[in-house]
Amino acid sequence: MRRVHLLASLLVSFVLAAYVASLALTSGPVAGEKRLVARGRVVYLPLPQRTTSMTVEEAVLLRRSIREYSGQPVELEHLSLILWAAYGITDPRTGFRSTPSAGATYPLEVYVVVGERGVRSGGTYLPAGVYKYDPYTHSISLVKVGDFRRELATAALGQRWVEEAPVDIVVTAVFERTTRVYGERGYLRYVPMEVGHLGQNVYLISTALGYGCVVVGAFYDDKVREVVGAGAQEVPMYIIPVGRPARSHYTSFEEVWEYIISRRGSS
Ligand SMILES: Cc1cc2nc3c(=O)[nH]c(=O)nc-3n(C[C@H](O)[C@H](O)[C@H](O)COP(=O)(O)O)c2cc1C
Repeated sequence: MRRVHLLASLLVSFVLAAYVASLALTSGPVAGEKRLVARGRVVYLPLPQRTTSMTVEEAVLLRRSIREYSGQPVELEHLSLILWAAYGITDPRTGFRSTPSAGATYPLEVYVVVGERGVRSGGTYLPAGVYKYDPYTHSISLVKVGDFRRELATAALGQRWVEEAPVDIVVTAVFERTTRVYGERGYLRYVPMEVGHLGQNVYLISTALGYGCVVVGAFYDDKVREVVGAGAQEVPMYIIPVGRPARSHYTSFEEVWEYIISRRGSS
């Protein structure tokens, strides 16, 4: 058993060494940087910047739960924006985030399960693995190497889209951060509400960038925790598969007007 462990850790070290050697090691990404910048197990994400031309109204109109994907990867600069919109820093003076939080207690943790060739940066791909997001440095750090999408889908009662998406975002909550300030109210209200805010941000930015996603709440907590390597104090809340949609989906404002007006006529 010990030998298996030793072999496994040697393999991980080898994969990481090869990966790091293939990347430019710099002190960090500069504004506008889009290529992979890594140091050890940490991948610094391209800095968030204005990218889409879609308005918020259009993103709200076109947001849909998407469960079939084209097989194309997620671009690293887009993953960067999706994670930033999910839980990134938006006010450097206070450290406040993209998602509102009761008393700014920020109980959530964000993981990314990257499939084989799931995230592309120029001509290279991020190694398949589980990564954890750090909002302060806007980086992801490798938790473990390998494609864990099938295990995650099994943990989610076999929901196909979890395995088929190039990337799954997993959100966990450390309830204690909020309940020690707000008590019971944190359990039933504040923390679940915050996960919803994060999920909607992921939906909207994904839509604006031309991706589709779906929030998945049905899974075995222990199994998801095990797949992402989360601590016992973290409760898995959402799995969010993200990918390019297999089919384009479109609704116009005019169709929505027609729907609303026809109901006014009959009331
Ligand atoms: C709390 C919550 C849990 C959900 N869990 C799942 C799930 O486990 N699997 C899934 O395919 N969709 C899940 N959904 C997505 C809903 O099925 C979807 O939002 C609904 O069908 C309406 O479609 P729309 O999102 O395109 O408007 C969940 C949505 C919410 C809000």
